Amino acid sequence: MDEGSVSPNAVAVEGQGLWKGFSTKKWVGTKRQVTRSYALKGVDLAVKRREILGILGPNGSGKSTLIRLMATLLIPDQGWLKVFGLDVIRDRQRVRRLINRVSVEASFFKKLTARENLAYAAGLYGVSNAKAQVEATRILASLGLQRDKLEVPLETLSRGQQQKIAIARALLTSPTLMLLDEPTTGLDPTSRRDVQEFVLNVRREHDSTMVLCTHDMAEAERLCDRIAIIHEGRIIAVGTPADLIASYASGGGLEDAFFHITGLDQERLRAEAEGDG
Ligand SMILES: Nc1ncnc2c1ncn2[C@@H]1O[C@H](COP(=O)(O)OP(=O)(O)OP(=O)(O)O)[C@@H](O)[C@H]1O
Ligand SMILES: [Mg+2]
Repeated sequence: MDEGSVSPNAVAVEGQGLWKGFSTKKWVGTKRQVTRSYALKGVDLAVKRREILGILGPNGSGKSTLIRLMATLLIPDQGWLKVFGLDVIRDRQRVRRLINRVSVEASFFKKLTARENLAYAAGLYGVSNAKAQVEATRILASLGLQRDKLEVPLETLSRGQQQKIAIARALLTSPTLMLLDEPTTGLDPTSRRDVQEFVLNVRREHDSTMVLCTHDMAEAERLCDRIAIIHEGRIIAVGTPADLIASYASGGGLEDAFFHITGLDQERLRAEAEGDG
């Protein structure tokens, strides 16, 4: 690969054979035992440019871990992962400049105001504070957050209000790849709609590629071009919402397809376990 330049026609994200485990330590008598359990067990994925790829899966299936690998916050144990042709390990700094991540566990200085937090983030991203404040105010208005909420300590805002600040913060730099880890979880129906509209607008305006984790089937169907279903660290189905419904739902919608696919996987895993035993 030439110095890792970003080709306009490149696949946005491509990965193969991704494994990621976490070690937990516990004391058994006087001995310390370390066990490693795997959140991702051989994931292959490809996200096309300008696509919104949804990742659906039960709690603990590995969605956020996969997002964190793309965000270079975690390093895979095995396999490789590229963002616009750049390797997440070797070209980590360049990959970081291409991604904007929104997650439910957004970290803020909770005693500072939203305005102060945004100013701090602008400094990190090398964006002028004046520009950041204008942009953030515009974004927050479109998400229905009152202006005065920018001036109070962040810890006094509701979770949904903080989530909106996190979205505004992620958009201080223009997004090439947006990683949205449950961006609407905990939002009221109107705010959820506002965020969904906003996501579609951002994609239109910036030609961004997006990876979206959600538990909301209607949201997945509305926003995603394709959906990957992940279960116990493996991607077990990928397709357009219509494909998944046609192949797996028995008369119902995406939720029906989701239950069917994850249920089939459970049956397969049980059969494998019995076969091994
Ligand atoms: N930092 C960590 N240390 C130890 N285990 C972890 C860590 N992060 C994730 N895990 C484990 O990896 C597995 C996958 O977690 P992950 O957060 O990726 O799930 P998820 O699909 O995002 O779930 P949710 O829908 O609840 O957000 C879980 O079993 C979790 O306990
Ligand atoms: Mg998660």
